[in-house]
Amino acid sequence: MQNFEIRTEQLFLRTIEKSDVPEIFRVARKNPDLPKFMSWNPPEQIKETLTFFESTQKDFPEKSVVWSIFFEEKFVGIVSLEKIERKYGVLQTDRAEIGYWLDPEFHGNGIMPEAARAVLSFGFENLDLHKIIAHHFSENIPSKKVIEKLGFRFVGTLEKDFGKNGRWHDAKLYELLKKNFKK
Ligand SMILES: CC(C)(COP(=O)(O)OP(=O)(O)OC[C@H]1O[C@@H](n2cnc3c(N)ncnc32)[C@H](O)[C@@H]1OP(=O)(O)O)[C@@H](O)C(=O)NCCC(=O)NCCS
Repeated sequence: MQNFEIRTEQLFLRTIEKSDVPEIFRVARKNPDLPKFMSWNPPEQIKETLTFFESTQKDFPEKSVVWSIFFEEKFVGIVSLEKIERKYGVLQTDRAEIGYWLDPEFHGNGIMPEAARAVLSFGFENLDLHKIIAHHFSENIPSKKVIEKLGFRFVGTLEKDFGKNGRWHDAKLYELLKKNFKK
């Protein structure tokens, strides 16, 4: 079995474990605005977080790898490579999409750029990906800044791409090729 542990200057990343569920639930629940621009709502019951954990195990590692991020031994967030696809028909794709969120107590300290850069490096080198894509709700400026710091190329605006709470949101789409990734 491949080792998915990653150490960076300040962080330790390992694949999500069932024992992380209470802490993920606590962080996600205490910050109702955290998932404002994400595909989920704050969990009301721990079983929702457990269901999320179980969903991460089904596709691991062929289609998705989800890491828990630790700073000074404390759980601070999640970063993932999802929708890993090797082929589309006879076409080679070798691509994935990066996703992430961080406990707001730790925002603004460069933690996610550091974690995401390490995951991009892992994806290109250890998972042999060719391309990683990213997107954010157009209103999500902190996420835009993270994606730009990582060197992604802006592809374009996807008009009214996601519906949340009865409203359609534009999305900004980015891509990064292995050959253009700078550690
Ligand atoms: C996006 C996110 C992961 C950024 O992580 P981070 O470790 O704080 O990233 P950075 O420290 O590089 O900060 C990113 C930018 O946001 C700014 N920022 C940080 N906290 C902020 C806040 N509370 N309000 C507004 N801007 C904020 C920072 O100043 C920084 O801008 P700068 O590069 O000009 O200094 C984090 O904001 C987050 O978890 N957001 C909620 C979940 C989410 O939206 N995920 C992405 C979905 S696409």
